[in-house]
Amino acid sequence: MALNDLAIGVFDSGIGGLSVLKEAAKALPNENFIYLGDDLNAPYGEKSEDEILFLSEKCADFLAKMGVKAFLIACNTATSAAVKSIREKYSIPVISMEPAVLPAFKHLKEGYSITLATPATVLGEKYLRLLRKVNTDKIISVPCYGLVDLVEQGDFYSKKIFDLLYELLHDLQGLKIDSIVLGCTHYNFIKDVIYEYAENYFDIKDLEVFDGIDGTVKQLKRVLEENNLLKDKNDKEQTILLYSSAGEEKVLDYQKIWSFINDDLIL
Ligand code: DGL
Repeated sequence: MALNDLAIGVFDSGIGGLSVLKEAAKALPNENFIYLGDDLNAPYGEKSEDEILFLSEKCADFLAKMGVKAFLIACNTATSAAVKSIREKYSIPVISMEPAVLPAFKHLKEGYSITLATPATVLGEKYLRLLRKVNTDKIISVPCYGLVDLVEQGDFYSKKIFDLLYELLHDLQGLKIDSIVLGCTHYNFIKDVIYEYAENYFDIKDLEVFDGIDGTVKQLKRVLEENNLLKDKNDKEQTILLYSSAGEEKVLDYQKIWSFINDDLIL
């Protein structure tokens, strides 16, 4: 098979990356995608950097064996720990996620911006470098212990999620905030609960929520173009394959989530 006809390999620790896949598949409607969620080992964000590196490389190896022309790491945590070594190991392009601190910094007005991300992301060197770049005390980073676990359970509006947010953000109540950065792709599914929390417990006006997906998808498109890797425009068909390390049952969950986020588009 010609390189251009191969799929784009997307992975995350679990269901979170489906939110990125959705936008990537929409922006590149004739490209094929293979998605792997490592639900068996999720959450990554409370593991050591070495473990995350090991697991992320295994995801990349799985996709490489399937035959892909580029990797899209739809996980901030895996990016933080493993993007460098995956780039070194493979010669195909690697596109990844990063908490959208830069747009949040530009958007700062009179308040603060709060980054919600996994402990591994906010404590990782990559994120700390990003913070040094903007060099401000107006960005507050919150390591969200336990949150990915709840999102993986699939009930995106549960009281448990609201209660955990209450616990995690308790010390910041009443703060004037301009934006929230969703620094973990799993949190895209609980945007409504996060917004509800912000409405109730923060001082907000025109709150902006940055998820970083748009920038990543644009980058994916740009990199494929620059490397002449786009599929032939005349081949209009798009195939999306979903895999989970937790097996078939989890893939059924993916299909439900997929039709939910794509207004009932059945794969
Ligand atoms: N979706 C992953 C991210 O963007 C979640 C990581 C986890 O499994 O803790 O960071």
